Amino acid sequence: MQVIAQNAYGPAEVLKPRTMDRPSIGDDEVLVEVRAAGVDPGVWIVMTGRPYAARLAFGLRRPRVPVRGMDVAGVVSAVGTRVTRFRPGDEVYGVCESGSFAEYAAAKETRLAVKPANISFVQAAATPVSGVTALKSIRDGRVRAGQRVLITGAGGGIGSFAVQLAKAHGASVTGVCSTSKVELVRSLGADEVIDYTRDEIDRDGGRYDVILDLAGNRPLSLLRRAATPKGTIALVGGGHAKGRIMGGFQRQMAAPVISPFLSQRLCGVTALVRTPELEELTGLIESGRVTPHVGNTYALADAAEAIRDLAASRSAGKIVITV
Ligand SMILES: NC(=O)c1ccc[n+]([C@@H]2O[C@H](COP(=O)([O-])OP(=O)(O)OC[C@H]3O[C@@H](n4cnc5c(N)ncnc54)[C@H](OP(=O)(O)O)[C@@H]3O)[C@@H](O)[C@H]2O)c1
Repeated sequence: MQVIAQNAYGPAEVLKPRTMDRPSIGDDEVLVEVRAAGVDPGVWIVMTGRPYAARLAFGLRRPRVPVRGMDVAGVVSAVGTRVTRFRPGDEVYGVCESGSFAEYAAAKETRLAVKPANISFVQAAATPVSGVTALKSIRDGRVRAGQRVLITGAGGGIGSFAVQLAKAHGASVTGVCSTSKVELVRSLGADEVIDYTRDEIDRDGGRYDVILDLAGNRPLSLLRRAATPKGTIALVGGGHAKGRIMGGFQRQMAAPVISPFLSQRLCGVTALVRTPELEELTGLIESGRVTPHVGNTYALADAAEAIRDLAASRSAGKIVITV
């Protein structure tokens, strides 16, 4: 099969087209014929090995799994002996262990769900990591009807779900993004949009009951100034931040330690894609309350360009590779 793989950590140039055998599947795994694969900052982190702390999980000298990509949507080609929920021909989405920038991918049964019937494979591939992280952010941020919610990175992969989910919860939503994404964020349902190239998020004082910090690049002091005295700040993003060792994720880890000393509530959000969360998203998508928003799309052979697009934040909404 054709794949996009790497032999060493580095910039997008390390990604090369290769031919390799289809992945073998374990008893509890599903072989998926990939139709589309999502591109998110997690892919950039594994490709570059930055922040360095990520290498403890993915391989010290090079990624243990050479094929990139996690989000997957496609058709079941074969199932392991203990798999009960899927059979060949089923249309599925979720995350895979073997790399989704490939014609076939192996995924655990517990990390897949049946694809929502009303969306394309491309939209489905945009959903698992970003949609589940948005769902977890809304939950951990305890977003409720009537609250004022500020969302940074609102025009990105997670943001495009988080804006819709916060609206579905009855909140009044202010999205924060750069100029080229203002129209998208409005179209997702945001009541107000702050173009951060013109205004800062504390321009109106501390008025937000909940801040979902997806972009991860604002100082905590600024986030705190924009929140109400008893407000909640949910720290989600960090991978884009400059720190070489932790890349900004240390804020999420420190949040529960600092929070008891503040009048505001700080929480670090960590999301894991599993079947129950995917099925919850399926319900929201099929009922029309949430629609996955795909930004730029690329062919498998152009995966390196897709990653450059991600790193430059050019795409409004999630980037997807079609296979
Ligand atoms: N906690 C978790 O479990 C979890 C799970 C998945 C991802 N994440 C993290 O969450 C963050 C957002 O993920 P995402 O998938 O939404 O990413 P994305 O699609 O790249 O969107 C992030 C948005 O943030 C904005 N941004 C601001 N400063 C940036 C910078 N210096 N570099 C790049 N983008 C910047 C960009 O919009 P503008 O052009 O408007 O600035 C971009 O659209 C990332 O840090 C990612 O690593 C966390």
